[in-house]
Amino acid sequence: MFDSHAHLQDPHIKKNLDNVLKRARDAGVDRIACIGYDLPSSEEALSIARKYKHVYATVGIHPHDAKTFTSEVWDKLKALAKDPKVVAIGEIGLDYYRDLSPRDKQKESFIAQILLAQEIGKPIVIHDRDANQDVMDIIKKYKAGRNGGIMHCYSGNLPLAVEAIKNGFYISFAGPLTYKNARRSHEVVGKIPIDRLLVETDCPYLTPEPLRGKVNEPAYVRYTVEKMAVLRNQHPDEIAYLTERNACKIYRIKD
Ligand code: NI
Repeated sequence: MFDSHAHLQDPHIKKNLDNVLKRARDAGVDRIACIGYDLPSSEEALSIARKYKHVYATVGIHPHDAKTFTSEVWDKLKALAKDPKVVAIGEIGLDYYRDLSPRDKQKESFIAQILLAQEIGKPIVIHDRDANQDVMDIIKKYKAGRNGGIMHCYSGNLPLAVEAIKNGFYISFAGPLTYKNARRSHEVVGKIPIDRLLVETDCPYLTPEPLRGKVNEPAYVRYTVEKMAVLRNQHPDEIAYLTERNACKIYRIKD
């Protein structure tokens, strides 16, 4: 399996990183993307990726931190992003649920990082919370899927997923897929093409059933894979293999 979105630099995980990575290996997780959300966490993601061969990094400024985005930050992100272990720009996007940065600033930072990804020729990882329409408008206007991209922790409806796929995106699901009330996501997983499906933990958040309440970690991605297998009426090993192959494709990992 490939955990396509994990925050290994989070203090809850980092303090036990060797054990967390060993448990992931034992559970069959052989690759992990460590996702940045501000400048320090992006630098940390890259240093973890440099230390562990099967860990890859992304660098970017989350919409919550859009207010920290400046031209100096852009320059530093660009320097980091050129590293071969950096597989995407992210997580970037819009969050109108918590609105921790002003919406204009969120848009400005999102668009600037789409252009950065295009300049260096890497895909993007999108965080979209309660901002579906504005995210899609920006994706289309700036051809944000030109180098491919991921709609991370997807929670939207089927038509929007289909539109994102048409625009070059992969659709990734985390622990909430295992929750009983996630009917809309269950429909999306059942109906989108298997070659655009990804799986992630978004750890330390979003712990899947039956472990809700514990700190999430990459080993638990298998619960989401198992749920996908039920929803698609396929064997879990097949879902594990295909979602790993998809993640390698979008992150351009060859070996
Ligand atoms: Ni995340």
